[in-house]
Amino acid sequence: MGESNLPLVHVINGPNLNMLGKREPEIYGSMSLDDINQGLGKLAGELDLALSFFQSNHEGAILDHIHAVFEQEPAGIIINPGAFTHTSVALRDGLLLLSCPIIEVHLSNIHKREPFRHKSMIADIAYGQLTGFGYFGYHMALLSIHNYLNN
Ligand code: DQA
Repeated sequence: MGESNLPLVHVINGPNLNMLGKREPEIYGSMSLDDINQGLGKLAGELDLALSFFQSNHEGAILDHIHAVFEQEPAGIIINPGAFTHTSVALRDGLLLLSCPIIEVHLSNIHKREPFRHKSMIADIAYGQLTGFGYFGYHMALLSIHNYLNN
């Protein structure tokens, strides 16, 4: 639960996602991470969910955050691990601490891109993966957690 007593969903973004809007916009779109988070905040308000936002370019900082989240009885996790998706056993192991639904989001469709992006270290431990829907993937992830909590 969040401070508001609403179920708390944690939105975690990994490396280079702080550069959204400036970074390869033809692939990742023109919205900044703040724009995406604002839209998500509005949707969370409509769904009676509380959100917490975290972004880091550092694998260890993301792990420390996941450990802190573990102590807070999270209702759900939306995570775009960026490039750590394809490499991080540590991130996978950290996420295995959590028993709430974990939704993996990618703005681009990783399966349509270079072969090294096809492999996700967390897809098989996630509740689901949303890839290729741009910013709307985050919205679908939140809707999906809402649906999970209400069914
Ligand atoms: C990404 C896809 C990853 O392969 C890449 O390293 C990113 C962003 C996406 O949102 O499409 O940083 O996770």
